[in-house]
Amino acid sequence: MLNIVVCVSGGGTNLQAIIDGVAEGRIRNTKIVGVISNNAGAYALTRAKDAGIPAFCISPKKFENRENFNQAFLAQLEALAPDLIVLAGFLVILPEKMIEVYRNRIINIHPSLIPSFCGTGYYGLKVHEAALTRGVKVTGATVHYVDEGTDTGRIIMQKAVEVLEGDTPEVLQRRVMEQAEWVILPKAIDEIASSRE
Ligand code: GRF
Repeated sequence: MLNIVVCVSGGGTNLQAIIDGVAEGRIRNTKIVGVISNNAGAYALTRAKDAGIPAFCISPKKFENRENFNQAFLAQLEALAPDLIVLAGFLVILPEKMIEVYRNRIINIHPSLIPSFCGTGYYGLKVHEAALTRGVKVTGATVHYVDEGTDTGRIIMQKAVEVLEGDTPEVLQRRVMEQAEWVILPKAIDEIASSRE
């Protein structure tokens, strides 16, 4: 059994895709042992609770400094003892120690075909705005391992999505989620779980 912790900051549609994937047997041999958010208002926390998954909010605002926040965050992770950490829209710079301790055990979903439209500053709608400004005809999503860089870790899975005439960043974001993110993130977790057996 692959025990995973999912880290989230927002709406949690990717988290939902994982919850559904596990429930429907598309993600095999996997248990979501916890969801951690840095944002108390994240709807993702409600999704976790509704699914009966232990949900934790560790907000930097509640700590005197970054170091104290990092310590609390790492302590929560350690308590959950995950085999794999899944970053699903987690807008926090990871503590360096976390990357060391969980090397090759942290994955992230990025809403473009890396190495396009990735790295510092490319998050959320900005990624899709940049793709539209550049005029690419194909974009997509990437699941990759997390290392010290931003979106530089080894690529696990990618899926292309067509850009259509008249797309707005919001419309393109939605299509990339539906056709790529919600497909390849569950698939990547299933493959990692299966490869451990
Ligand atoms: C997704 O677009 C993901 O690729 C990015 O952040 C967004 C999170 O959306 N890293 P959600 O919270 O899963 O709905």
